[in-house]
Amino acid sequence: MTIALIPGSFDPFHNGHLEVVERATRLFDSVVVAALRNPQKSQPLFDLEERQEMMAEAMAHLPTVTIVSVSTLLVEVAREVGATAIVKGLRVVTDFENELQMAQMNRSLSGVETLFIPTSAGHSFIASRLLREVARYGGDVSAFVPPAVDRRLRQKFAGGS
Ligand code: PNS
Repeated sequence: MTIALIPGSFDPFHNGHLEVVERATRLFDSVVVAALRNPQKSQPLFDLEERQEMMAEAMAHLPTVTIVSVSTLLVEVAREVGATAIVKGLRVVTDFENELQMAQMNRSLSGVETLFIPTSAGHSFIASRLLREVARYGGDVSAFVPPAVDRRLRQKFAGGS
């Protein structure tokens, strides 16, 4: 049984993430999507519980996917779920520098391999950071996120902030 572990901040989960998860379900028997804290990033917009709820709704059509949200080391999650490999999406070249270092660190810590899936060109500019910014100022991000996420973003910024 092959198990992919797809980690990320997912703050919020968007259509580029969804594409990577959907493609991984065709390559692995099961897929665990893990919302984690990224200590490099400041105060998150959504707490881990909110992120997990939105992701569960956005991936309800994918029966081999399970979702977890944890505040721990990624390699610990990989060990607990018995991951065959960590899977990450790559949008642009700058992603690669960062991802390469994390992949090497995680492999040094635990031996787990990281595999990369390049996102389609149509998703290469979608980033959670930009979505938070656009939504905060009342912009329409519905083309870039699942409906469950769009709804939560609208609620979060209702009345302006
Ligand atoms: O979506 P992101 O912010 O690029 O995801 C980064 C994430 C959450 C996968 C990374 O920060 C992470 O693995 N956090 C858990 C803590 C950890 O294991 N850190 C060491 C990474 S080498």
